[in-house]
Amino acid sequence: MLASFPTNDLPSPQVTPLSRWVERKIRPISLRQLTFFGRTLTESRLLSSANYVRMELPTRLAHRLRDIQKLPYVVVANPHLSLVYELYYKAFERFRRVPEIKNLDDNDKFCDILRKTLKEHLVVIPKLAMGVLECRDLLPAEAMDQFMNTLLRARISRRVIAEQHLALTETFNSPWHFPGSQDRTDLNADFVGEVFLKCNAKEVIERCGKLVQDSIRQASGSDKIPEISVQGHLDATFPYMLSHLEYIIGELLRNSIQAVSEKYHGSPEKPPPIDVLICEAPQHVIMRISDQGGGVPREILPYLWSFDKGPHSKARMQNLEQVPAMAATMQELTVPRERKSVDKETFREGSLDSLTSRPPNLRLGMGLPMSRVYAEYWAGSLELHSLEGYGVDAFLQISKLGNKNEQVTARASIDAV
Ligand SMILES: Nc1ncnc2c1ncn2[C@@H]1O[C@H](COP(=O)(O)OP(=O)(O)O)[C@@H](O)[C@H]1O
Ligand SMILES: [Mg+2]
Repeated sequence: MLASFPTNDLPSPQVTPLSRWVERKIRPISLRQLTFFGRTLTESRLLSSANYVRMELPTRLAHRLRDIQKLPYVVVANPHLSLVYELYYKAFERFRRVPEIKNLDDNDKFCDILRKTLKEHLVVIPKLAMGVLECRDLLPAEAMDQFMNTLLRARISRRVIAEQHLALTETFNSPWHFPGSQDRTDLNADFVGEVFLKCNAKEVIERCGKLVQDSIRQASGSDKIPEISVQGHLDATFPYMLSHLEYIIGELLRNSIQAVSEKYHGSPEKPPPIDVLICEAPQHVIMRISDQGGGVPREILPYLWSFDKGPHSKARMQNLEQVPAMAATMQELTVPRERKSVDKETFREGSLDSLTSRPPNLRLGMGLPMSRVYAEYWAGSLELHSLEGYGVDAFLQISKLGNKNEQVTARASIDAV
């Protein structure tokens, strides 16, 4: 396949390597396909996973580089956005030069490149967010949000396939893995790479809830931390990227707990609980998170789902400056060392959590828009209803079947991967 994309010829003025890669179609993958490589993990499957990632990353990067190039020059010239562009270009150049991965040594080298790039790109989210805030007078908010959503979605998509491949390689190299054994992955828990086959909504909510309660209690010193009560279909399970679900639930619960504890600050009353309802339907699992924290302030509502924060842009900008790197995981909200109580069996650490951390009560205005990007990525949805003066109901819908493709921007037919 690589033969049609020689990397060492001299590009003619019109046909650059970038334009050649932009012509390639993105091949979206489903959760089920993501687990396919790992279910019976053999050397040849690991290598085909590596080669899928090797071809897919520069393709996806090329499309995003082209998106950035299409922005008006004044926007691209923004120092934050041009830094992102340079990082992406560097990564594109790095990946497009990787020759076909033919053996495990090649794969180890490739994994080193993946890890290095993932780490370098931890600055991307705060940089993008600051770029958007600084350029808010140069482009309509709608266009900016569309650009931001596309970039973030694509970023998730690249990290999903990269981290999945790293996780599979780790499994393959682990001492209990016997290549060719059909039983291994079945015996060895419900993780295939980063995909947790049996995400249990109730357990995730309880685990995230405790973490968020503790971190807010610690950061704010408040004694008005509401309880979390979970009702409904407590047995509902579905395959999902655990880190994505934890991020969304973590952000929603953090908003609710913060609102309630602020409303009841200095009051003699006990704060009312956060009520979570889980509803399992044939195709979906829906979670409703209800709080009585007074609802979203009226002046915030128009900017709730936007990366443009209107009159609050300046304050958000100052807060973002305190967050040089962001993995957008729930764990980074707490200091990693304080995770002793977490059950190691069901709680896998994302590969990058420990590299970043941010104060749990710092307002960045990105929790909801980022959570929606994560939710829609696996064909789900996130809605919020604010009852002014009373509280908020957030609705998270998860697609249960696992055969829905990731929602990357360009729709394309899926090759058999
Ligand atoms: N459950 C809620 N109750 C009241 N206000 C909320 C709730 N969720 C969100 N908000 C408001 O919406 C704003 C944006 O939320 P979010 O996107 O999570 O960013 P951040 O929490 O960093 O400000 C919050 O600052 C808060 O004012
Ligand atoms: Mg928030």
